[in-house]
Amino acid sequence: MSSLTLDVETMNETKHKRLAEWVEETARLCKPDRVHWCDGSHEEYQAMLRLMILSGTAIPLAEDKRPNSILVRSNPADVARVEDRTYICARTKEDAGPTNNWEDPDKMRQKLNGLYAGAMTGRTMYVIPYSMGPIGSPIANIGVQITDSAYVVANMHIMARVGTRVLQVLGADGDFVRGLHSVGAPLGPNDQDSPWPNNAQDKYICHFPETREIWSYGSGYGGNALLGKKCHALRIASVQARDEGWMAEHMLILKMTSPSGQVKYMTGAFPSACGKTNLAMLIPTIPGWKIQTVGDDIAWMKFGADGRLYAINPEHGFFGVAPGTSMKSNQNAMLTATRNSIFTNCAMTPDGDVWWEQMTDTKPPELIDWLRRPWTPASPRKAAHPNARFTTPASQCPVIAPEWEDPKGVPIDAILFGGRRAGVVPLVTESLTWQHGTFLGATASSETTAAAVGKVGQLRRDPMAMLPFCGYNMGDYFGHYLDIGKRPGAKLPKIFYVNWFRTDENGKFLWPGYGENSRVLKWIFERCDGKVHAVETPIGRLPEPADLDTNGLDLPAANVAKLLSVDVDGWLAEVPLIREHFAKFGSHLPEGLNREIAELEDRLRKAKK
Ligand code: GTP
Ligand code: SPV
Ligand code: MN
Repeated sequence: MSSLTLDVETMNETKHKRLAEWVEETARLCKPDRVHWCDGSHEEYQAMLRLMILSGTAIPLAEDKRPNSILVRSNPADVARVEDRTYICARTKEDAGPTNNWEDPDKMRQKLNGLYAGAMTGRTMYVIPYSMGPIGSPIANIGVQITDSAYVVANMHIMARVGTRVLQVLGADGDFVRGLHSVGAPLGPNDQDSPWPNNAQDKYICHFPETREIWSYGSGYGGNALLGKKCHALRIASVQARDEGWMAEHMLILKMTSPSGQVKYMTGAFPSACGKTNLAMLIPTIPGWKIQTVGDDIAWMKFGADGRLYAINPEHGFFGVAPGTSMKSNQNAMLTATRNSIFTNCAMTPDGDVWWEQMTDTKPPELIDWLRRPWTPASPRKAAHPNARFTTPASQCPVIAPEWEDPKGVPIDAILFGGRRAGVVPLVTESLTWQHGTFLGATASSETTAAAVGKVGQLRRDPMAMLPFCGYNMGDYFGHYLDIGKRPGAKLPKIFYVNWFRTDENGKFLWPGYGENSRVLKWIFERCDGKVHAVETPIGRLPEPADLDTNGLDLPAANVAKLLSVDVDGWLAEVPLIREHFAKFGSHLPEGLNREIAELEDRLRKAKK
């Protein structure tokens, strides 16, 4: 690793006293063998890949299949976000709110200090300065992650802008979010490292919102370990956004161009593994329309001088769900991940490529599954883990919008909320007002997926797809949404609710989804200009079947009718469930949302008469 910068030199180069002190302090606590300041260079990235290959963490994929790419298999006990080990250590439990795990900050610091003591023995401590958002953009925000995982360093190289250029922007006393991460697996002098070091007993993903700190221990996977993503860009940033009057959201950002060249930008908040990456890159099935990608997971939105909300994608890569991704379902994601990518918990083909469920129509005759066992189509188990992921540079996406790194961001015309709902919720609903749209977001519900450890398919409320990611009391977060709507001179996006996942009696999806979702986006696009018809219903405005462009769509009329119908009894049954959900927030629930549920019930009862 001759190309790596000398630690002491970089330390002097930073001239940032608080940063240098924190790094020193952390090194004294964690006792690594070495400290390495990441410069963000190509050579450094290659060095991380080599280290992972040497230690058995990674396998290089065949150069003629996936150039400059690796496959990593994690420990089966470390495959997804751990929501029950994730804490918001705000000063009071009330500040964390009823939807977050809470622990007293002093107590948690004490506990974690104990766990971190000597935790990096035998390992290298990497210091990763990173920028969420284009470096130097007024909307961007800097963080520094300390980690003892080369896998994390390599992933952060793809997912964020990292290295010396970030230190330069930070200068001598710039503010930054502190993120400390350890896999919690110290090595004795004679210990053999495991391919996926992690801590089987203890995992803690902790946030200290008041001091803008993240302390993560014991896991090396995804959102638990790549601290710029959910921990910083959502949990900490949501608190910053509340304090400073902007929004940090679990949203894709897409650009849609009409056949006449008109452009609109939309964001969409769907829970984990509910279709953000797919929607952000979809290939429209309606002629003449174009979709381009600005972001696939996170949006930071700030008001511009013109009163509109401008969104940036704080990330630099995609950490996408692999299973289900194919040339048919998401060609653009497939083409993005053809090279320079990291694959985690996918299966491997005999010729050195990766494979996952539904990637191809016919299953390969033999594979090594994600647990390193031989696999054939006759095997009763899945070849890839359901939360297997690809980490891949956004710049490689064939439909990345040219303005995706514009430091100003893009002006948002529509916000979409949604989730996986087998029943009741129609294909698309337009909100009546910003407050009603906030109500739709606040009552969003979805079936759980493999993106988090726990049972899959359980229906739960996931407000604004932020249930696992809101860094403060979610009642106050609803209030923040309403405040955004009340800002003088604001020219707000329209809010819609979509559901691609309604099923028939046999559990089959009623709507084909994927590229066909462009038909719904077209209606939304035209609703933004009031150019297409909608019918007012008790739950909001809906297209009638004739309003939706179904040209060339091979779908029984009965399906379309069902997808666009309002199930009054089903909704009346939802009302008490929504009240129960709201009751959790007590005095933190904004009055506006109480009014919305009362008015919804009223409209439904009138419709029944
Ligand atoms: P995170 O990265 O976890 O935040 O997930 P995401 O919201 O980006 O979800 P993604 O686009 O990766 O989709 C997850 C799963 O949903 C994949 O298995 C997709 O195949 C499936 N999916 C996406 N869009 C649709 C759709 O329109 N209809 C149906 N039926 N399935 C979809
Ligand atoms: C999600 O779970 O919403 C993800 C994956 O985007 S992770 O980065 O692991 O949170
Ligand atoms: Mn996500």
